[in-house]
Amino acid sequence: MSKSAEPIEALFAAAKAAQANAYAPYSRFKVGAALRTPGGAIFSGSNVENAAYPQGWCAETSAIAAMALSGERRIAEILVIGDGEGLCTPCGGCRQRIREFAEASTPIHIAGPGGVRASFTLGELLPHSFGPEHLKDIAP
Ligand code: THU
Repeated sequence: MSKSAEPIEALFAAAKAAQANAYAPYSRFKVGAALRTPGGAIFSGSNVENAAYPQGWCAETSAIAAMALSGERRIAEILVIGDGEGLCTPCGGCRQRIREFAEASTPIHIAGPGGVRASFTLGELLPHSFGPEHLKDIAP
């Protein structure tokens, strides 16, 4: 686990607000995510489910899409909030999506309704990962 030097209250508040608007009528498991860019901008998102179940997507994916839409390309820190007793850690697909815009040292905070429960680095959750730099050395 790791600790961030940056305050995370604003991330927590943004993720909690996003969780409140999650569309999760099938799982009834509402998730919110909020990320901060190196410049301090915050983007949030929630899970959006679908009657054709596999077509739904995660809160982290929504937050990353909001970030990319604004032209931002780096994640300095991300927080995910879910209900229940367990840690709502990002699914495998979302770990890879975060990886695209983050470093191995990027903090990923996992929160419950009362606040942050644990903090990890991306490298801890997705070790030895594949990323954009792996594609740089190939011939065009
Ligand atoms: N979910 C997220 O949005 N993020 C996570 O980190 C874990 C799972 C969503 C997907 C689905 O809508 C619901 O939670 C139950 O799996």
